[in-house]
Amino acid sequence: MDREPILEAVEVAKTYGDGTAALAGVTLAVHPGETVALVGESGSGKTTLLRTFNRMIEPSSGAVRIEGKPAADLDPIVLRRRIGYVPQDGGLIPHWRVERNVELVPRLLGWDRDRRRERTREMLELVGLSAAQGGRYPAELSGGQRQRVAFARALAADPPLILLDEPFGALDALTRLELHRQFLELKSRLAKTAVLVTHDLGEAFRLADRIGVMRAGRLLQIGIPKELEERPADPYVSALLELRRG
Ligand SMILES: Nc1ncnc2c1ncn2[C@@H]1O[C@H](COP(=O)(O)OP(=O)(O)OP(=O)(O)O)[C@@H](O)[C@H]1O
Ligand SMILES: [Mg+2]
Repeated sequence: MDREPILEAVEVAKTYGDGTAALAGVTLAVHPGETVALVGESGSGKTTLLRTFNRMIEPSSGAVRIEGKPAADLDPIVLRRRIGYVPQDGGLIPHWRVERNVELVPRLLGWDRDRRRERTREMLELVGLSAAQGGRYPAELSGGQRQRVAFARALAADPPLILLDEPFGALDALTRLELHRQFLELKSRLAKTAVLVTHDLGEAFRLADRIGVMRAGRLLQIGIPKELEERPADPYVSALLELRRG
């Protein structure tokens, strides 16, 4: 690809304070406009890797570059503006109403009230929630609606890059399909770059341009679905694809 990557990880490793080696040196580049899915079993390091991208976790070694600049040199506020994040549990603040949750980053960025309100209205509409739902607390919504709020929040400051950690988990099949459809539509409309963590290979095949397979803190292979199917680089990748074929 000829365009500069929007996100690059070079030999990113992370050992937690208790000695858990969560990442053992991961290298990947994500290009503007693509969706990369990261799949892999529980504990393989997907969330840890995602969180090194927005500096919620500092790598023990290696480097992350955002739009060509070392993430370690970027101001956290700048990072929040450039990178939207949907955490694995949605991460909504329970004692804030939905609309206040959505305007979290615009507030951090110091947008004035009218601009924040307008943007929140627009975002709620985008994800198919009403103004009345915007006035509720997260606990007063369904799980799928909360996931949509988390998505709206991640998009509120219009970041070019969004990180999504199992955003469609714990949903019934129909709601999940509906959110997949919305995700694909939003992506084509807004031309975002996305890194999407999932342990559902079917979801990865539906939503991603490229898929990375993680295991035990390593990225075993990353490629377009056809490459993974035709030239699996590792027995684990073949086994995973076998499972998918059933
Ligand atoms: N704060 C922490 N302290 C110590 N170990 C941690 C911490 N956070 C995660 N780990 C460990 O690091 C490894 C990778 O965890 P991580 O959350 O990145 O996995 P994951 O691939 O996202 O898993 P899942 O699919 O279950 O969400 C696991 O062994 C986990 O127990
Ligand atoms: Mg995780």
